[in-house]
Amino acid sequence: MKQVHVLNGPNLNLLGTREPETYGRETLADIEARLTAKGKAQGVEVIFRQSNHEGDLVDWIQEAGRAGIPIILNAGALTHTSIALPDAIRGSQAVCIEVHLTNVHARESYRHHSYISAAARGVILGFGSLSYDLALQALLS
Ligand code: DQA
Repeated sequence: MKQVHVLNGPNLNLLGTREPETYGRETLADIEARLTAKGKAQGVEVIFRQSNHEGDLVDWIQEAGRAGIPIILNAGALTHTSIALPDAIRGSQAVCIEVHLTNVHARESYRHHSYISAAARGVILGFGSLSYDLALQALLS
């Protein structure tokens, strides 16, 4: 069965209780359950991972990229600070869709720049947890 890896960065483990007026009340486990079911219905195994540590994300991007497994990546705040993550995407030739729950361009100016975007195949943001579904749909088509 084909796989898609959904990689989540810092603080996304807190979804559901983290600033719900900004990020909603759904948990990461809720999103995982929905995407896993959607993938299964289309013959794709969706593997969800979350870490608060940049190095874990580098390892997971390299692992997926080298195995030819596409990635959906919400790097959280590392989006705006990390050079190692886009280097890992490029270095492992990972096909990566960058996602965000919120429209980062409508938020604080320090969220307007993403280091990931230039290394990503596409970017989907601002649709709440639906951003993940749209990214999966993009990969599956
Ligand atoms: C986020 C946006 C980032 O700026 C923020 O640091 C996050 C979540 C989003 O999904 O909207 O942790 O990636």
